[in-house]
Amino acid sequence: MSGKAKKLPRTRIKNTSPQVIELFSGAGLFGCAFQKEGFKLQAAYEWDRVAASTYARNLGNHVEVCDLTKKRPEGRADILIAGPPCQNFSSLGRRDPDDPRNNMALIVPDWALAVGAKIVVVENVALFLKSPIWERLKQRFEKAKYETFTWVLDAADFGAPQRRVRSFTVFSKVGAPPLDDFLRPERQTVRQAFADLPEFPCREIQHFTLPRSEFALKRIRLVPEGGDIRDVARAARHLVPPSWFRTKGKIIDIWGRMRWDDVSPTIRTGFLNPSCGRFLHPQEHRPISFREGARLQMVPDDFLFEGTAEQMARQIGNGVSLGVGSSMARAIAELMH
Ligand SMILES: C[S@@+](CC[C@H](N)C(=O)[O-])C[C@H]1O[C@@H](n2cnc3c(N)ncnc32)[C@H](O)[C@@H]1O
Repeated sequence: MSGKAKKLPRTRIKNTSPQVIELFSGAGLFGCAFQKEGFKLQAAYEWDRVAASTYARNLGNHVEVCDLTKKRPEGRADILIAGPPCQNFSSLGRRDPDDPRNNMALIVPDWALAVGAKIVVVENVALFLKSPIWERLKQRFEKAKYETFTWVLDAADFGAPQRRVRSFTVFSKVGAPPLDDFLRPERQTVRQAFADLPEFPCREIQHFTLPRSEFALKRIRLVPEGGDIRDVARAARHLVPPSWFRTKGKIIDIWGRMRWDDVSPTIRTGFLNPSCGRFLHPQEHRPISFREGARLQMVPDDFLFEGTAEQMARQIGNGVSLGVGSSMARAIAELMH
């Protein structure tokens, strides 16, 4: 972790229930973490209607469905949090410099100044910190007399049973949030995360997944705990897509099974689909359920998702792990005493 800054004069926030505005809120995992730590969610903005209805169901009706590129900033808040779209900064993305989604992060400073935010948190993939857009973002904030602090954090270091490396940039007028104080050295495992779940399936808490074809099940049954496509290739070549052999076996993290006694791999938006990663249950012949995915993100069981299976998976995979989110919220709360 690193927190770099030039020294600037400090101001303090005098506020017992600090208010938060959230941009690109998705289903509200980041917002949920702030709400749990006692912050008041004032407003949230998201253009996906289904993600916004998950947000409203769980966190309140203060979410507005809108295209943030066309929305004028409004409201007042001490804290602004934002998770701008990250596909194009991701190592899995195409990294097209002309992709208009790149510029979306640049609306954040306009909002920060308009709402009077003392602290702004921008979450994204780690590579975001190396992008020209991040440089422009930093320049705009520093011109407005904010200090810049950056971290590349693994959710597994903050109590999540999941490896999930993401960048967090804090632009602040009140100093650096003491994030290191909230590290949790003891690793949680997939076994601990799933331990007290009811028997699969259990629709009330969205502990289900989509049924798989008989052909897919033949593959899945051949993958042992911690195994992947290579086990299928060894046991039954005819079940492996020919395209995989053309990669000369380089792609190994597909049709993978999690390990009970380790953290899970990063939960991505496609975790519903075993061909997209290491998303099979450690033991049962199926991908992990939505609730299992949500637990790996540390989402409470009474937080329920709206939409189709694909939409639910996208909301879960897009979210900020609640362990990191809560630690960030608590560290920010420390600055307010
Ligand atoms: C990475 S997700 C945010 C997830 C959120 N931080 C959480 O923890 O649940 C980015 C979100 O930005 C939304 N988005 C993308 N472009 C947008 C736009 N122009 N206006 C509003 N929302 C947009 C996407 O629909 C997506 O839900």
